Amino acid sequence: MKVLLTGAGGMLGKALAPCLEERGHSVKGIDKDDLDITNYQHVDEMLPYTNPDLVIHAAAYTNVDQAESEPEAAFLTNGYGTENIVVACAKLDIPLLYLSTDYVFDGQQNHPYSTWDPCNPLSIYGKSKLAGEKAVRRHLTKFYIVRTSWLYGPNGRNFVNTIQELARQNKPLRVVSDQWGSPTCTLSLAECLAGLIATERWGIYHATDGGVTNWCGFAREILRGTAAEVQPIATKEFPRPATRPKYSVLDKTTLIHTIGRDVVPWEESLRNYLDLGSLS
Ligand SMILES: NC(=O)c1ccc[n+]([C@@H]2O[C@H](COP(=O)([O-])OP(=O)(O)OC[C@H]3O[C@@H](n4cnc5c(N)ncnc54)[C@H](OP(=O)(O)O)[C@@H]3O)[C@@H](O)[C@H]2O)c1
Repeated sequence: MKVLLTGAGGMLGKALAPCLEERGHSVKGIDKDDLDITNYQHVDEMLPYTNPDLVIHAAAYTNVDQAESEPEAAFLTNGYGTENIVVACAKLDIPLLYLSTDYVFDGQQNHPYSTWDPCNPLSIYGKSKLAGEKAVRRHLTKFYIVRTSWLYGPNGRNFVNTIQELARQNKPLRVVSDQWGSPTCTLSLAECLAGLIATERWGIYHATDGGVTNWCGFAREILRGTAAEVQPIATKEFPRPATRPKYSVLDKTTLIHTIGRDVVPWEESLRNYLDLGSLS
């Protein structure tokens, strides 16, 4: 397939492009410097020019806390920008895969969210990503909406690197233990996305690594085998501008049936990622 990938310079984009190319797809990766998705005229010109078989839309405003003080910017990129991409896709009948987030849920459930559960985002970021989902559903019939969570991977500032850095500097590690979810490596997510786009089974999917933990458990696993200690704290002891869901584990049943294999446990993905670091 000829794939047009937005957000190619981002953390997921950098893992996804090589993964798709290894599978024989030709990937045209674009970033903000090539195309600002909030400019409809440019989007409308770019799409027929590149004429892809599929658009993977990973570009987004992703600063969850900053979005609380600049909602216009978050909605401009994640809502309006996404609408620009999907309107241009609809005109040319090009299918699209949209990356979305576990933050579309409110976290009040105590069992994994299925793709049929109602959304009720708590943060501006979550609301703006949901606006993007709605734009996709409004304009397209051939789409995948893929919700994922707690991403980390090579080529991006992320929780794993932050924790490792703090431990290296012998900084005290106090990490929240009352928010539950599934850490997900961009490398294993890329493999799932590559499997999904081969199916043409359009719809909404949840794609994360397997298993459940909280941020403190995640930090302890990152530092396993070191002397560093991680102290659990409550969210209220570490207030942040954006409210996160208390529980945002995603049920991956439809993904697993569609791609024909289970997802990798989060601990295994993390180990693979940490091994990459120790090799380089
Ligand atoms: N990271 C997570 O934990 C997480 C969790 C769930 C879902 N997701 C979703 O997964 C996708 C990929 O996330 P990520 O972590 O790879 O994000 P990221 O590293 O922040 O990358 C996002 C990319 O989008 C680009 N972008 C922002 N505004 C743009 C615009 N107006 N026009 C064109 N490009 C623009 C950014 O460019 P600049 O850097 O130049 O601004 C950046 O390269 C996003 O849709 C995100 O919402 C992420």
